[in-house]
Amino acid sequence: MINIGLIGCGKISAGQIAAIDTIENAKIVAACDLSEENLKAVTEKTGARAYTDYKELLTKEKIDLVIISLPHFLHGEATCFAAEKGIDVFLEKPMGISVADCKNMIEVCRENNVMLWVGHAHCFNPAYMRAKELIDSGKLGSPISFSETRNMDYFAASRPRWFLKKELSGGGIMINLGAHCLDKMKFFSGSEIADIHGQVHIREGYDVEDSVQAFVRMKNGFVGTITLVGNTAAYSNPTTVYLTKGEIRISAGGMVEYCGCDGVFKSEQCETSGMKLQLKTVVEKLEAGDKTPVISGDYGLDIIRAITKLYEKSI
Ligand SMILES: NC(=O)c1ccc[n+]([C@@H]2O[C@H](COP(=O)([O-])OP(=O)(O)OC[C@H]3O[C@@H](n4cnc5c(N)ncnc54)[C@H](O)[C@@H]3O)[C@@H](O)[C@H]2O)c1
Repeated sequence: MINIGLIGCGKISAGQIAAIDTIENAKIVAACDLSEENLKAVTEKTGARAYTDYKELLTKEKIDLVIISLPHFLHGEATCFAAEKGIDVFLEKPMGISVADCKNMIEVCRENNVMLWVGHAHCFNPAYMRAKELIDSGKLGSPISFSETRNMDYFAASRPRWFLKKELSGGGIMINLGAHCLDKMKFFSGSEIADIHGQVHIREGYDVEDSVQAFVRMKNGFVGTITLVGNTAAYSNPTTVYLTKGEIRISAGGMVEYCGCDGVFKSEQCETSGMKLQLKTVVEKLEAGDKTPVISGDYGLDIIRAITKLYEKSI
């Protein structure tokens, strides 16, 4: 049995709890949040012991794994504290708020011989897994480029306010949602990020960017454009992969459409959440005594390095 501590009982925790519920040999035994309301919602659902100080939870509880889903500026200190207690870590994306923050987490987890798994879940998402299978089959030729657009109201009242303070979030729509686009590019290409250029836009009076246009080049030559627009209520998130002999389109709803040179599309509806498979894989690995993460600290760092570069070099 893998006993889990949940630190951060906000929006993402519902999906995590639902996923862990489906895993036979995993249980959330302790939970922590500063918000009484969020904490109560989780402890009532799971029966977990309640904490308002995550350091107390990590010190008192005998847990095998901690799931950290805190505001981004706390990812580093919570991860390092858990590592120093010898507890394996599943850390929600984005890994941290700076390159130095991420490098420190990697170092401290390595020194303490604990697993550091960063929650970039796209390689566990059935729609993206199907796209990757099509790419790797070679039937559509070799991959050339990628394009993703994400339109939404990033400043909706339902968004927790810490997301809008750079000091707490590390940035706006790019570090929060552009991180998913970079995850997809890494997964589809099987390569690391070589370079990124582009422009971020910050509305007057705001602290973090609302829109982004970025051009990304991977080390193996795969390239892509990322367009993020946080100023509209109309949600859309289409992704396209162009190959030498075809094209793959993936919609936000999990529809995967693909065609060869004849231009005739076939379509398949896939599931869209990778959370269950991701956490099941984490638990299975730990039960087998394998602390090698599928998504490592170096993977998370590659994404943060690119985002930081975009922020610094925005034209
Ligand atoms: N993988 C995904 O698709 C996905 C989706 C949503 C969010 N996330 C990530 O999950 C993390 C959390 O996001 P969210 O949307 O759940 O945010 P949220 O604001 O809803 O939840 C964060 C929680 O942390 C609590 N908190 C803040 N400081 C604390 C402290 N010192 N000690 C204990 N609790 C504290 C807050 O009270 C809040 O309940 C972020 O890293 C976010 O980017 C990932």
